[in-house]
Amino acid sequence: MLLSVKVHYHSYDAIIVGAGGAGLRAAIEVAGKVKTAVITKLYPTRSHTGAAQGGMCAALANVEEDYWEWHAFDTVKGSDYLGDQPAIDIMCKEAIDAVIDLEHFGMAFSRTADGHIDQRRFGGHTRNHGEAPVRRSCYAADRTGHMILQTLFQQCVARDVKFFNEFQVFDILFDDTSQQRKVVGVVAYELATGDLHVFATKAVLLATGGYGKMFKISSNAHTLTGDGPALLFQKSIPMQDIEFFQFHPTGIYGFGILLSEAARGEGGILRNVLGERFMDRVAPTVKDLAPRDMVSRAIHAEIVAGRGAGPEKDYVFLDLTHLPPEQIDSKLPDISDFARTYLGIEPKTQQIPIQPTAHYAMGGIPTNVDAEVLADETGATVLGLYAAGECACVSVHGANRLGTNSLLDIVVFGRRGGKKMAQYVLETDHPEITKDAHIPFQQRIDELKNANGQEKVAIIRAELQETMTKNASVVRTHDSLEEALGVIEDLSKRYLNISIDDKGNVFNYDLLEALELEHLLELARAMVVSAQARTESRGAHWRDDFPTRDDVNWMKHTLTTKKPDGTLRLAYKPVVGGKYPPMERKY
Ligand code: FUM
Repeated sequence: MLLSVKVHYHSYDAIIVGAGGAGLRAAIEVAGKVKTAVITKLYPTRSHTGAAQGGMCAALANVEEDYWEWHAFDTVKGSDYLGDQPAIDIMCKEAIDAVIDLEHFGMAFSRTADGHIDQRRFGGHTRNHGEAPVRRSCYAADRTGHMILQTLFQQCVARDVKFFNEFQVFDILFDDTSQQRKVVGVVAYELATGDLHVFATKAVLLATGGYGKMFKISSNAHTLTGDGPALLFQKSIPMQDIEFFQFHPTGIYGFGILLSEAARGEGGILRNVLGERFMDRVAPTVKDLAPRDMVSRAIHAEIVAGRGAGPEKDYVFLDLTHLPPEQIDSKLPDISDFARTYLGIEPKTQQIPIQPTAHYAMGGIPTNVDAEVLADETGATVLGLYAAGECACVSVHGANRLGTNSLLDIVVFGRRGGKKMAQYVLETDHPEITKDAHIPFQQRIDELKNANGQEKVAIIRAELQETMTKNASVVRTHDSLEEALGVIEDLSKRYLNISIDDKGNVFNYDLLEALELEHLLELARAMVVSAQARTESRGAHWRDDFPTRDDVNWMKHTLTTKKPDGTLRLAYKPVVGGKYPPMERKY
């Protein structure tokens, strides 16, 4: 018999899941046009967009010559030629209006002396196809994501967008009776009460962020557990390019907390234990402002060569000591405080220990450029289903995202997705869903509350994070991935034997974390299996046993699907090319 639970029923034209930048930007687009609700597992302004620091690129040319085509070229090259060029063109062209939109929404950008939006350098962004770093990143000190999030939230409040805060979506409901799958609703769990909510809706846009919490050293917040992608993956919607995960070069040593690339954009330098500026050797033109995949690998190489610092020789330094103190105070206030708070280091006078940190999922839910979710490698769409931001894979980042292109991605594709969803909703009839749509999820909660297994969520999660950081990060091999896969399979079996201590209904994080862990395990398995199959090195996916890029066999996207019997199917589709043929990546 099921435990008793209160169930609430709602009806909306459109549901947006996630209240980070992509979700809020989509909400602005649909608000006032169709009856919309945003469901978020956090309070909106605590979304992870708020942790983004260094900026959002757009070729505004406010401080030096620049063109969106240069931005597009850099993004294609940065993606190691795995990004789809028509989508990249759209993103880089629309970037300029996206910044101006934010300006009109009241965003407090950092300014030039004459009042224009200031711009600074960032990794992989260059003038004229690689001549030198260019100032393309629009920013608000080192709090750009925070300012974007606040700005978009205020606009949603002004438009009376309905928010369901601290609600976790745990099921997406489909009508599978016709040939083309169609969204009909979602089931959500209210954290404050334990009540269930069934939403009938014509359309759902997922903007749930990434899944960096499968790694031990990560810049991601605790909430980034891949909920949106995993819910679809469990229903046989593929993950695209899930093997590509970005490691940001400058995480605070031991913690992984982000120290913005803006620090190097402002002139910061990476040094090994000998004080050498090792990026001189790796990227003679752009040096410390090479793309993240290259910088993270260069740090790894320094450590392997014994030139790391500390008792374990396992970190290098970010050196800001030569920058004027007033520049650090005005342009990098937050990261300076992070160094002081977490390491007791004064960045004006001391070098900061750093190590690469799991930062960003390049792969995710496959979509087209209007954020419509793709059902498979043929390009067929799922009716009424959209995804935008880090949980989605358009693909504009390919094998390696350039810094600042994620804040750009969320506003450009959040806006496009919102527009397309509003159009779809206006042409579609309201679905009927049964009163007992919540029952499978209610059974799952009951199972977890009644279970008396020996295994604990925190221990399984820690072992998952340990193996992913050890075996599936900056450098991988067949054997390291095999080891990770063995651990994940073992942990997945042990997961079936978990129990939770909190049996209550009010803010039951024990229960929530148990459900989130299932998502991390599913996606980690998909990542490792896809990475093992890709026998080349491209962007952030570096295989020591296949150390070159293989354009003959691997200019293709991976689509990894979980079949109903639980096994994985790998399929592929070609990269969509454009003006820029693949070249060797030198910086
Ligand atoms: O380094 C940073 O500020 C991060 C930016 C990004 O991931 O785009």
